[in-house]
Amino acid sequence: MTKSPFLYSAAFAATLVAGAVSAQAASLTLYCSADEAWCQQIKTGFEAETGITVDMTRKSSGETYAQVRAEASNPKGDVWWGGTGDPHLQAAEEGLTEAYESPMRGELYDWAIKQAEAADNKTIGVYSGALGFGYNKDLLARNNLPEPKCWADLIKPEFKGHVQIANPNSSGTAYTMLATMVQLMGEDQGFDYMKALHKNVNQYTKSGSAPIKAAGLGETTVGIVFMHDAVSQSAAGFPIVTVAPCEGTGYEIGSMSLIKGARNPDEAKKFYDWALTAAMQDKAKDVKSFQIPSNKNATPSPLSPDLSAIKLIDYDFKKYGSSDERKRLLQKWDTEVSTLPQ
Ligand code: G6P
Repeated sequence: MTKSPFLYSAAFAATLVAGAVSAQAASLTLYCSADEAWCQQIKTGFEAETGITVDMTRKSSGETYAQVRAEASNPKGDVWWGGTGDPHLQAAEEGLTEAYESPMRGELYDWAIKQAEAADNKTIGVYSGALGFGYNKDLLARNNLPEPKCWADLIKPEFKGHVQIANPNSSGTAYTMLATMVQLMGEDQGFDYMKALHKNVNQYTKSGSAPIKAAGLGETTVGIVFMHDAVSQSAAGFPIVTVAPCEGTGYEIGSMSLIKGARNPDEAKKFYDWALTAAMQDKAKDVKSFQIPSNKNATPSPLSPDLSAIKLIDYDFKKYGSSDERKRLLQKWDTEVSTLPQ
């Protein structure tokens, strides 16, 4: 018996519908909080390897945290990759993210696993990097300014209008700075420092790395950023010098979390495992992202700042990533620092 053309086309249509449904399901909404170029590389790399379409949005760490929180009753994102660890820890504590133990964990450094353990496995470390600053050496010379080597140099009156940093509400970099000063100097002196710095700040940007990009272009002399972001600018040919502040400094554990109630949980886990591979992390340097990878088998760029050579504080991620402490410090910065005249 031969099948009627109708039967053929009905079966074919059914296949098409099934295909469309599965093609539709093979997608992932990625919230990315590292630099745009790295976020784009990750999107296209994951798409090419898996055939899963990635809808990627790049926003700063604090902004992404706020978005995940605002969407909690109807989550739109599946996975949040990158950005400083503190807001990832806050999201974990507030039940906005999902616990997961990736089979890749055995390949990771202790600091990446510690981050997971601090959050009942609701987040994990993907890279690390030290806070510092960079300056435009041409502008420095043109303004007859001394070479800044310490945090203390940036609050000297001659640096008035020469320093740029992000706003700690939107930016994880700037929140790391605030929490670092509190840990390095004690809370009162740390806030006194931020108030003194405020007098010298020419602009608070939204994104953490914007100040050093502006310094590269000659729009500000100094940018307070993660040191690897300053290195990216010199690697791109801009006249930027990277500084590890003499008093010591804080650092970040850039993190990744699965969003609770995600629409594409399987794709999100696939992405999560992939993002912990050495092969994926090795590609960061191709887009001038010079963080230290969390996979022990990945090779950092020779340009990556060597964390063992930098005086690092024992940053208390659990405390400064806790919901109460992060909220309290940001509120205090809003009322006591940002409102001061410049
Ligand atoms: C840059 C750095 C990252 C950091 C991120 C935080 O992209 O390269 O290491 O995690 O800034 O961004 P944010 O805009 O939140 O300060």
